[in-house]
Amino acid sequence: TSPTTAVSHRPVAHFTTRDTWLNDPNGLLYYEGTYHLFYQTNPHGSTWGNISWGHATSTDLVAWTEHDIAIPFTADEMAFSGSAVVDVRNTAGFAGPGQTAFVAVYTSARPPRDDEPASQSQSLAYSLDEGQTWNRYEGNPVLDIGSSEFRDPKVFWHGSDDGHWVMVAVEAVARRVVIYTSPDLISWTRASHFGPAHATDGVWECPDLFPLSVAGTKDTRWVLIVSMNPGGIAGGSGTQYFVGDFDGTTFTADRLIESDDPTTYDWLDYGRDYYAAVSFNDVPDGRRLMIGWASNWDYANETPTHPWRSAMSLAREVTLVPDEEGIPRIHQRPVLPQDSSALTSFTVTVPCAPGDRQTLVLSAGGEEHLAITVDGDHRSITSDRTRSGATDFHPTFPSIDRAPLPGADTTEVELFVVVDATIVEIYVDGGRVTLTEQVFPSEPFTQLRVEGEARVGRA
Ligand code: FRU
Repeated sequence: TSPTTAVSHRPVAHFTTRDTWLNDPNGLLYYEGTYHLFYQTNPHGSTWGNISWGHATSTDLVAWTEHDIAIPFTADEMAFSGSAVVDVRNTAGFAGPGQTAFVAVYTSARPPRDDEPASQSQSLAYSLDEGQTWNRYEGNPVLDIGSSEFRDPKVFWHGSDDGHWVMVAVEAVARRVVIYTSPDLISWTRASHFGPAHATDGVWECPDLFPLSVAGTKDTRWVLIVSMNPGGIAGGSGTQYFVGDFDGTTFTADRLIESDDPTTYDWLDYGRDYYAAVSFNDVPDGRRLMIGWASNWDYANETPTHPWRSAMSLAREVTLVPDEEGIPRIHQRPVLPQDSSALTSFTVTVPCAPGDRQTLVLSAGGEEHLAITVDGDHRSITSDRTRSGATDFHPTFPSIDRAPLPGADTTEVELFVVVDATIVEIYVDGGRVTLTEQVFPSEPFTQLRVEGEARVGRA
């Protein structure tokens, strides 16, 4: 089907490429005041293909500058998702005197050839000019296990000077996160694996693993992020997480839920459009910042925008906060522009006792809208975009998505809603629950009407 509306409204604070296709964030890295965002892109088109690593930088995580392609596809391989590190100890030996190497670890995705089957293996590229230009390592691939479903390496340094590199990647179809270690980014040793566990209806993709201190305690727990497509909580692609321990080689989850009901698992987002989210390496002060791809594989190739297609989420700071039962849960807070007028956002306090039912209607004043309903009886929050503008470019797009209302018996809940042209991000109860949704209205939504008792402040 062809798009019904050509949307020219481009988000201002959500990264979009000038005129190409975009999927996963890759190689999120902070170095000397600059945030680097690499990403999956098609340099020659606005649908998935020719997959290469694009590159953008920002000093505030809101205004991004797009640069030349960092790692282009070749006749032999596409450059699938991965991560980047600053090799400050020059463990790989790529840096000369006075130089510091950025090293990207990406998946070499090779199509089947005459007598060779398709393969996915892990490769390196390095930059000696802070990410402006990149060279593929001549010894690629550095990790090949003879698989066609082995991808998305996230690499970080574990420990102090006598530490080692850790790679988490997926054996996608086996629904397994595999963990490797290395002294030099070049030779890798298999250490352990995690999974299958919890949501396993789709292939596992884009893992991440990082420590977070638990708010109000002296504890540190490790968070394992696992994207999955399809079978996400809202349908299509979605992202789950596990909280546990990591000793440098093995991740152990604190709780494994013996239920096949997906609502009992921990999801990073309950909307349709938050996928492949990973965190930045090397952000100062122990802050953990993540970016996700604000789309869904169900319809990503068909969304009605031109000449770009897809956007990233806002950067989100994640923290771990114990819930009423003491179970640490991820909370997310968006990084917003300094100039608050650049984005439309609302803070709304909504009653949610039994019997309360409130609907917040986001619109441009006309018929097209996104409706957010807080239901005190069912203890749920739903986001309904069935009449949000262009919806018929794909049958699964006009969705009503549901999230649990956090807290067992709270009587009020705070919603923070950010709207940026085609992306709506809903943060519930200090970001304990989030819903991220694309919309394609003919005019950007800037108004919030409340049906019921809720109190609205325009941020
Ligand atoms: C996730 C994903 C990754 C893969 C990349 C290809 O969205 O499927 O597993 O590396 O996209 O573009």
